[in-house]
Amino acid sequence: MEIRGRSCIVTGASSGIGAATARHLHALGANVTLAARRTDRIEALAAELPGTRAVTTDVTDPDDLRCLIFETVNTFGSIDVLVNNAGQGLHVPILELDPIDLRAVFELNVVAPLVATQYVLPAMVAAGGGAIVNVSSATTLRDFPGVGGYAATKAALNMLSDVSRVELADKGVVVSVVYPRVTDTEFHQSLRAGVGPSGRSIPKDPPELVAEAIEFAITSGEAHVLVDETPTAIGPTAGPERTPASRSVRPSRAESGERASM
Ligand SMILES: NC(=O)c1ccc[n+]([C@@H]2O[C@H](COP(=O)([O-])OP(=O)(O)OC[C@H]3O[C@@H](n4cnc5c(N)ncnc54)[C@H](OP(=O)(O)O)[C@@H]3O)[C@@H](O)[C@H]2O)c1
Repeated sequence: MEIRGRSCIVTGASSGIGAATARHLHALGANVTLAARRTDRIEALAAELPGTRAVTTDVTDPDDLRCLIFETVNTFGSIDVLVNNAGQGLHVPILELDPIDLRAVFELNVVAPLVATQYVLPAMVAAGGGAIVNVSSATTLRDFPGVGGYAATKAALNMLSDVSRVELADKGVVVSVVYPRVTDTEFHQSLRAGVGPSGRSIPKDPPELVAEAIEFAITSGEAHVLVDETPTAIGPTAGPERTPASRSVRPSRAESGERASM
């Protein structure tokens, strides 16, 4: 899909990957709706990016999601792209994982993108189709100790994405998953519980690199896109086709242990 002139919703646009994606899509000529809870942040970004629209949204609140979709259609006339990016980490060992934390992060990382997909669909179909990009995590490509709860939510998002990709294909809606590695954002300061990777030696991707991978997912329609210096289409991450080969597709630095993946 061409991005110029398209109406794109980016959730979690108040910082990090979402803000970088909003800037990137705006620079490519998209009409961007900025969604997040921190109104001051998204309004400041909207002021920086003329023509964008800020809509204060808690994506775990169905009424907020309805309002986000209504305001976007009202402002731009349609919805062509939904980037389900809002999310939170939960980085504690399995034995310390509090079910209350896991349920809360599941609501945000899995249920919210599902409901946003359900709600956006009528407008997208009315526009003749569209693209939905779900921001997952490279933690779902390997078995990293300490992030089991978080990775489980993102693995669930992967499966919802894959199945919705099949179910929505005949409606002209293409669903893709993007897998960021460790990225230099507020993510590790905003974990629901636990601590992020420590040590200065861990290289972090700039959020702009993830924004380019999201652009690639929208324009190519690839099902699975790994963030890398050049965005890389990878094989399925689950199901009978999940072979050792597809599972090992990941950045070489991660394989050598130099770059953890979150
Ligand atoms: N950074 C990494 O290393 C990394 C690696 C792999 C995957 N990811 C994924 O990338 C995505 C973006 O994370 P980031 O790295 O950019 O982290 P970030 O800087 O902490 O951004 C998270 C965004 O999510 C929004 N958000 C959180 N809860 C929300 C809610 N209930 N409703 C609406 N928005 C909400 C936050 O906005 P408000 O607080 O203003 O609502 C913020 O804009 C997440 O899905 C994360 O899991 C990150």
